[in-house]
Amino acid sequence: MEDKTYKLSNGVEIPVIGYGTWQTPDGETAEKVVDLAIKDGYRLIDAAAVYKNEESVGKGIKASGIPREELFITSKVWNKDRGYETTKKAFYKSLEDLGLDYLDLYLIHWPANAKQFENWDEINKETWRAMIELYKEGKVRAIGVCNCKPHHLKSLMEMEVKPMVNQIEYNPGNRQPETVEYCKKNGIRVEAYSPLGTGRMLDNPALLEIAKKYQKSVAQICLRWIIQNEVIPLPKSITPSRIKQNLDVFDFELTPEDMERINELPDFGFSGNDPDTITF
Ligand code: A2P
Repeated sequence: MEDKTYKLSNGVEIPVIGYGTWQTPDGETAEKVVDLAIKDGYRLIDAAAVYKNEESVGKGIKASGIPREELFITSKVWNKDRGYETTKKAFYKSLEDLGLDYLDLYLIHWPANAKQFENWDEINKETWRAMIELYKEGKVRAIGVCNCKPHHLKSLMEMEVKPMVNQIEYNPGNRQPETVEYCKKNGIRVEAYSPLGTGRMLDNPALLEIAKKYQKSVAQICLRWIIQNEVIPLPKSITPSRIKQNLDVFDFELTPEDMERINELPDFGFSGNDPDTITF
């Protein structure tokens, strides 16, 4: 079941769960945990230039010994590199740091927003133009965005190649229904970063109760809820037992009642980083 994939709008297959590398310390730790995660069965590795660990992540990928074509490697263009030329440069830097000759998915990390730039929409379109070229040149198998609300996506959806993925902050305490609904309607696959709310989910009483019922951990309940919503969770852990545990979510199913109970929880998982108001 963990081998299961979705087809993106261009037919490229993407695993239903991935391994996150945000906040993973650079160096030996990143190298070891990525190697371990791949050996445990993760096939999607979610990286980004701004995580400042791509060289180590790349070493971990190599150390795993798994053939490149069986892996799905993602990176992201950081905010300071928005724009046409700079996006291309950033792409090749990530490619080199990761030690790869193509990526499976390249994403715009955050959309430019109206609070920061009068011409925010133009900036996003320029960045996207570079993404389209990289895609057409075959350097990357799929392209997408992160942290986009429907109004950020609107003009990109009118361009020659449309975003195939939107990676957003998503967990039982931060469900962003308008964005998820918009993406589903428009053939954009949603990925969930901070699927455990970077830890904020773990002591929620309702989730603890549900976890007890299924004899699973709260982390596993969060990941299962995300998977049943057909969103791709990207849990991060540097702890070997948790890396394994987070993949062990395919032998049970949450009932519709429990799914609904989670859907009705008050919001308690938001990091506070609103794509419309961030200043970085
Ligand atoms: P660690 O990396 O020390 O194992 P998110 O994926 O939402 O960003 O959450 C990551 C945080 O949750 C990290 O602090 C990570 O700790 C912790 N974490 C990851 N998996 C589990 C788990 N199965 N149980 C408890 N904590 C976890």
